[in-house]
Amino acid sequence: MTRTLRAFGRRVRQARTLAKAFQLPHQPVVAQIIPTRRCNLSCTYCNEYDRVSEPVPLEEMRSRIDRLADLGTGIITLSGGEPLLHPQAAELIHHIRRRGAMATIITNGYLLTPEVIRALNDAGLDSLQISIDNVMPDAVSKKSLKVLDQKLRWLAAHARFEVTVNAVLGGGMPHAEDALLIARRARDLKFQCTVGVIHDSHGQLRPLTRREQDVLREVAALDRPLFSFDRYNRFQEMLARGEPCAWHCRAGSRYLYVCEDGLVHYCSQQRGYPAIPLATYTVEDLRREHASVKSCAPYCTIGCVHRVAMIDELRDAPVETLQAWFGSPGSPTGMPLPVRALVGLFVTGRTRRLARRAAGRLLGAPAPSGGGWTRAD
Ligand SMILES: C[S@@+](CC[C@H](N)C(=O)[O-])C[C@H]1O[C@@H](n2cnc3c(N)ncnc32)[C@H](O)[C@@H]1O
Ligand code: SF4
Ligand code: SF4
Repeated sequence: MTRTLRAFGRRVRQARTLAKAFQLPHQPVVAQIIPTRRCNLSCTYCNEYDRVSEPVPLEEMRSRIDRLADLGTGIITLSGGEPLLHPQAAELIHHIRRRGAMATIITNGYLLTPEVIRALNDAGLDSLQISIDNVMPDAVSKKSLKVLDQKLRWLAAHARFEVTVNAVLGGGMPHAEDALLIARRARDLKFQCTVGVIHDSHGQLRPLTRREQDVLREVAALDRPLFSFDRYNRFQEMLARGEPCAWHCRAGSRYLYVCEDGLVHYCSQQRGYPAIPLATYTVEDLRREHASVKSCAPYCTIGCVHRVAMIDELRDAPVETLQAWFGSPGSPTGMPLPVRALVGLFVTGRTRRLARRAAGRLLGAPAPSGGGWTRAD
């Protein structure tokens, strides 16, 4: 299949995942699963790895993926530790796709070769995030552009999946401007780029210096597609200024973190809550955690959980949320034309029910009959 056709198929499945998330408020959107806790590196800011763990057996991983698929999870991400250390990583990807979810992986990239990239293509990987922390390796992290640029070039040449480069800022990283150089390199290779703000061992903000705040703004100003959730990092802007962020964390419901022992936790930094085996995790658990309020939320920097929460913000208060993302408060005319057109079509227009039903049919996910889009209805 050509790169373009594959990208088109991926966009359709992304849209379907989003449409289903709008339709079903308690269905998990993203689950991160850990196929091995072991890592081949030892970044000093990280508390998510060890040196000794064995990979989780393939059959066990398959049954965890099956359970997540049965719960309706839209996107299943392999993380770690270093997930490419799992000897059957490609088979896991293949199984995720076979069960109808989107398959993504977060890796330090050290084990990427043209052969591994081709195996990931063949397995049906949808998206790969490679973490690059600095230009030259240092005492904090060896995930440097110097070592990983060759991997980026291989990805550019061979990958049939989406590639995102994730840089980190703060927390004692000595060269803040490296994040900008990494983001530019990613853009030159036509990859996406995100920046993670380093958190402490509870997922909480470590305040950014003035220079780091500037770099975060400069990376955000690099052009990105209009319709990309990575674009709307309001939470990062607020946190960078040291301000608390008002949001509802949906961990344990829309976002699940499944550790190497098969337990569901809120996220990598709140392990131990609720710590229920995935095999017995039910819709009741999803409902409870959708409503639960997490005291760690105001200063939480865990980007993927923030982004998933945006779906519910949009679902519950579409016009207000789009205004907050795109326009000036109270003025829909401040929004870009395509966004205004979509608001008119799906949210405020007279034929909105018809438009939603048609879009739902097209994507295989009927539009909500109640509960979603409520304020504008
Ligand atoms: C735990 S790693 C696992 C996957 C893989 N080993 C890697 O480094 O990409 C997942 C992501 O978490 C990020 N990360 C780890 N510790 C962090 C921290 N304290 N603050 C912010 N991001 C962190 C890493 O940079 C990486 O992008
Ligand atoms: S490579 Fe990833 S898992 Fe390993 S220590 Fe660094 S951040 Fe942690
Ligand atoms: S707010 Fe949510 S994502 Fe953030 S640390 Fe707490 S449980 Fe984890």
